[in-house]
Amino acid sequence: MNIPERDRCQTPPYGVAPILEHLERAQFPRVKIWEPAMGEGNIINYLGENGFDCAGTDILTGADFFTFEPELPYDCIVTNPPFSVKYKWIERCCELEKKWALLMPLETLGAAKAQRLFQKFGMELILLDKRVNFIMPNNGNKGTAQFPVAWFTHGLNIGREITYATIDRKGER
Ligand SMILES: C[S@@+](CC[C@H](N)C(=O)[O-])C[C@H]1O[C@@H](n2cnc3c(N)ncnc32)[C@H](O)[C@@H]1O
Repeated sequence: MNIPERDRCQTPPYGVAPILEHLERAQFPRVKIWEPAMGEGNIINYLGENGFDCAGTDILTGADFFTFEPELPYDCIVTNPPFSVKYKWIERCCELEKKWALLMPLETLGAAKAQRLFQKFGMELILLDKRVNFIMPNNGNKGTAQFPVAWFTHGLNIGREITYATIDRKGER
C-alpha cells in the first residue's frame, strides 16, 4: 500500500503524555480507547502502560477508518491520524458520536471545513509548548519536528476551550 511519508510519522510517548490526565478525568470507569491508525502502536503502548484499555487497528492491517468500526465497545478515539485526510477524519469521528482526541497540525484550526465541524460538535484544544519530533520511516526522530501540532479533543469535558500543556522532550525516544 502506498502511504505518503507524512502520513507515516509515529508519535513518541512524550507527545501523548499531555492528554493522559484529561482521559483519566473524562469519565468513570475509565474510557475504553480505540486507536484506528495505530501504525507501530506507540500511542496504545503508552496508554496501555498507563492503565487504559486500548484496541488498535490500521489500514495496513485491513481496517479502513472510513468504513470500519470495531465490534468491541469503546468510548474514545485517540490517534495521530494521516494528515492528508485530516478533515475527512474529523468528520468521521463526529459521525461516530464518541469522544475523540486527535493529534494534528495546528494549521488545522485555520481551515473553514474544520472550523465548521468544531463549531457544530464542540472541540477543546490542548496546545503544546514545544514541537513533537515524530519518528519518521527513514530518519528516526532526528530533527523531524517541522511543524507545531496540538491535541484537538471532543467530549473530554476539560472545561476550557484552550489548555496550555508543557511537554518534556528530555530523553526523547
Ligand atoms: C501519522 S501515522 C500515525 C501512527 C500512530 N497513530 C502514531 O501516532 O504513532 C498514520 C497512520 O494512519 C494509517 N492510515 C492511513 N490511512 C488510513 C485509513 N484510511 N484508515 C486507517 N488507518 C489509516 C497509516 O497506515 C499510518 O499508520
